[in-house]
Amino acid sequence: MIEYIRKYEFGEPYETGAVIEETVKTEGIPEGFRYDEEAGTFFYDLHEKDMIFGLGETVRGINKRGWIYVSNNSDDPAHDENKTSLYASQNFMIVDDGERCFGLFVDNPGTVTFDIGYSTPGVMSIHPEYNDTSFYLVDGQTPLEIVGRFRRLIGASYIPPKWAFGYGQSRWGYKTADDIREVARRYKELDIPIDMIYMDIDYMQDFKDFTVNPERFPDFEDFVKEMREEGIHLVPIIDAGVKIEDGYDVYEEGKANGYFCKKENGEDLVAAVWPGKVHFPDFLNDDARRWFGKKYKVLTDAGIEGFWNDMNEPAIFYTEDHLKEVFEQVRDFEKKELDIWGFFDFKDVVGSIANNPEDYRRFYHDFNGRKVRHDRVHNLYGFYMTRSASESFEKIAPGKEILMFSRASYTGMHRYGGVWTGDNTSRWSHLLMNIQMMPALGMNGFLFSGADIGGFGGNTTEDLMMRWIEFGIFTPLFRNHSALGTRDQELYRFDKTEDFRNLIKLRYALIPYIYSEFIKAVETYDMYMKPLWFEYRNDDRCREVEDQLLVGDSIMIAPVYEQNKTGRYVYLPEKMKLVRFRSCEDCDTEILDKGDHYVSAALNEVLVFIRPGKELSLDVNGGERRDGSFVHTNDSGTAITVI
Ligand code: GLC
Repeated sequence: MIEYIRKYEFGEPYETGAVIEETVKTEGIPEGFRYDEEAGTFFYDLHEKDMIFGLGETVRGINKRGWIYVSNNSDDPAHDENKTSLYASQNFMIVDDGERCFGLFVDNPGTVTFDIGYSTPGVMSIHPEYNDTSFYLVDGQTPLEIVGRFRRLIGASYIPPKWAFGYGQSRWGYKTADDIREVARRYKELDIPIDMIYMDIDYMQDFKDFTVNPERFPDFEDFVKEMREEGIHLVPIIDAGVKIEDGYDVYEEGKANGYFCKKENGEDLVAAVWPGKVHFPDFLNDDARRWFGKKYKVLTDAGIEGFWNDMNEPAIFYTEDHLKEVFEQVRDFEKKELDIWGFFDFKDVVGSIANNPEDYRRFYHDFNGRKVRHDRVHNLYGFYMTRSASESFEKIAPGKEILMFSRASYTGMHRYGGVWTGDNTSRWSHLLMNIQMMPALGMNGFLFSGADIGGFGGNTTEDLMMRWIEFGIFTPLFRNHSALGTRDQELYRFDKTEDFRNLIKLRYALIPYIYSEFIKAVETYDMYMKPLWFEYRNDDRCREVEDQLLVGDSIMIAPVYEQNKTGRYVYLPEKMKLVRFRSCEDCDTEILDKGDHYVSAALNEVLVFIRPGKELSLDVNGGERRDGSFVHTNDSGTAITVI
């Protein structure tokens, strides 16, 4: 029983699986909060200096104060800082004025609105759409202590296989085994290390889960083996929707056993996603979840050791029922003379077909024996899909470590897999967003995470890709991914391949550090990437540092995230050693005092600041570590001491 966490219950909370420890149940309203029972809203008066950290995958800065965030897993590739919902819901946050701090976790799998001083600057309000909530207050002296306590409450984070810390290339559009061979060949030719090539939906037969197109991928098992011999793991995508097609085993079995989500009238919901019309497996139902998890065996038997689960908010292009309604409405519009407002009404009807909120109220789950309408537990869907896979791995691939990450998530899923942050865009602002999201994801236990490097939608540029890689070499999940129809962005598509090679090799040389700090963060319930303020609490300047991060115990990074910059301002909370890496063999160092500095960073340079008394170990081809310095050897075995 944990005593420094108080649990308050409202309504009939669901057993979401976010929390794994028992806590003291407290009566009444969470201390410090007001509760407007009629409105179902909690209010907290923010102190002038209060900063809010956390909420996982959300837009805007590291300090979340001043905006409104809605936990409602959404497939929204066109997002920017004005959006309120992204692909994930991670409802843990810390309120901290520098002297007093506490954590709070709102365990409610439906829509929850966190208005953090947006409507009223001095007030934070929390409004769950349905009041069935477990509300946890976490005491602690510092944000890090609170994070540690919360993370013990929700259980240890997922650890992927070590090779998953390598570099991965992905693109929506690789259609054949030869396309993938070509990617592997080009990387090899340019001597750019790579561990993973991701397979997007085109490997499947008509986008059917757990199938492989036999024409485009003949002898799949041999192909997997061939790639493994090249040192490459193939990582296929699995989507949530199951294609409706007679004779397709997954569809037939799901239907026969009643494993798909049903409408009020008991019929299976018909939605449409990439495969066309689909049913959604009811991952919240224990039997359905176990059944779907076993299906990954088709691929693990073929030698596959990693997956990414997608479209599991679930994304809905349309539902059959809603589309019918829209067609009827359109016919009505056609009959009328449209004035300009009528035209906009028409546009709204037609433009809001995908991911329509009404559709999430059309289907039900059989959740722990309770019939539950989807919207009440919406944010659990991706979590339970990933749980489904992850729990089956022990049985279908005994003794193997499997890479698993997901697009949609909810707190608790961090025990089963990592996350990528969904469909971002090739924009500089999305690089900054990636930097600012990482600590908040870690606070919620999602240590194995990362964004689509270079940007998924839109066309990237060489300089954006380079700067993004320079940050990405520190993120546990390190994957370059892009959308169909966008500019090719494999690193060999650019001119400065030597710089890219150096950067990727630097990542590999850093893996001993990254991996050990990652494991340490998992085992000690610490954060792998932290805001400066979490460590330097007697330095008020650190409150405002939103674009530098501590990575593990020894280093601080200050990525360049703006176009045309050959340097940036950096704030040092103490004296540090700056290492300006051009490659793992080529760098210069400088001791910088506490304070503000303008630091140059040419396009191919990575800034790493080593904290006093700490060291960073790099390891190229089996380098060794010596006291107070890091030493590595290059191919010819020459030792290079950087500090
Ligand atoms: C979704 C995914 C993206 C993938 C695409 C096609 O948009 O987020 O990563 O490439 O679907 O499968």
